[in-house]
Amino acid sequence: MKAHTLASLDSIVRHFIVSNFPHKAVEIYSKGRKKFLEKLDHEGYELNAYVPPKDFGRNLWGLYFRSPIMNAAGMFKNAEGYHACFNQGAGAYIGGTGTFNQRSGNVEKDAEGKPVEGGVVHPFVPYPLSGAASNALGLPNDGDDSNVERAFALCIIKKKHMPVGWNVARSPDYPEEEGLKLLVKSMKEYEKAGVDFIEINESCPNTGHDNIASLQDFRRRLHYIKVNFLDQRRRKLPVKVKLSNDTSPEQIPSIMDVLFEEGYDGVNFGNTSILYDKMRMRIHPQEQMAFDYFTKKFKGGVSGRPLKEKSLELCSLAVDYRNLGAPNQEFHVFRTGGIETLADIKQSENAGVSMNQWFTGYFEAFAKDGHDVYKTMFVPKTF
Ligand SMILES: Cc1cc2nc3c(=O)[nH]c(=O)nc-3n(C[C@H](O)[C@H](O)[C@H](O)COP(=O)(O)O)c2cc1C
Repeated sequence: MKAHTLASLDSIVRHFIVSNFPHKAVEIYSKGRKKFLEKLDHEGYELNAYVPPKDFGRNLWGLYFRSPIMNAAGMFKNAEGYHACFNQGAGAYIGGTGTFNQRSGNVEKDAEGKPVEGGVVHPFVPYPLSGAASNALGLPNDGDDSNVERAFALCIIKKKHMPVGWNVARSPDYPEEEGLKLLVKSMKEYEKAGVDFIEINESCPNTGHDNIASLQDFRRRLHYIKVNFLDQRRRKLPVKVKLSNDTSPEQIPSIMDVLFEEGYDGVNFGNTSILYDKMRMRIHPQEQMAFDYFTKKFKGGVSGRPLKEKSLELCSLAVDYRNLGAPNQEFHVFRTGGIETLADIKQSENAGVSMNQWFTGYFEAFAKDGHDVYKTMFVPKTF
């Protein structure tokens, strides 16, 4: 069965399953998400290429992004999906999150914290009536050694077609100093592999790394990466930092100062939310039982429509702050969280956001429009 047929059939029953059988829904969609992505990757090779209208394109850091929207990190953790993104008409591609070591990710655990045999692997559940989802995957990926090779292969085929970025994180399996050292080591390998930009994931809620609890620690980590990577770059390679959508608006000036002073090239707001009480208010009443089940059992991060206003607010503040006193380097603000339609992108555009990334909204759009997700979004509209 084709990915679009599967997604559109599923969209008929999904809300019923999620609203009534939370446990079953987590079982089905944790498995189903991976099967669907395999199909997407596979079909991507055979699609007729759609090229977004020229007036949607933009130059950022000297790179040509074909449109203002691309996938968000975590969709293609091990370099899958490039052909699907390219042929569908995405603005760019991002792989990862990659970590230095291979990680198997989270599995269901019993009350004593022991893995449940045959239990859920990489917990995920969609909330279709709310345009949202929860995930507690725990950064599963094949490790940077394997993914650097795959990134290298993608960078050979991509030529000048569309930028390829990589999202990387300090592995939570090492003490912080060791983890930073290994992160920098990997970043050097991705640089050699030819990626066009790097995004540092400073915000994964599913590994015990969370928000910027201490600005001092944040600065220290970023300073280490500046000295050991940014200052030693052998070519123009923009590095931006992805933060949480739970970042408080009051923190924006100090965060931006750190990013400017340490020489970073951009920021992305952002990652999923763990503010469950706030998020719950944006979950459809019929899906609150599933939401409660998931957030109690697996915790995880909330994505999709409930993040829409916050991602826009944080990005607008970041753009305004940059415009008050731009750093020497070309600095861009990316928006991720609750992007679903061209109207959302226009709001980003009005706020001065350079680029949008989507995850949850992409899958909802795919269920309707299949591989024509971007074509349907852009044609015959103009920007
Ligand atoms: C299943 C799933 C896995 C994710 N994995 C990652 C990841 O590996 N790295 C990362 O930076 N963000 C990850 N995210 C967060 C997304 O990149 C994005 O920041 C978040 O979902 C908000 O965007 P959305 O509202 O368009 O979904 C993941 C999100 C989901 C739903």
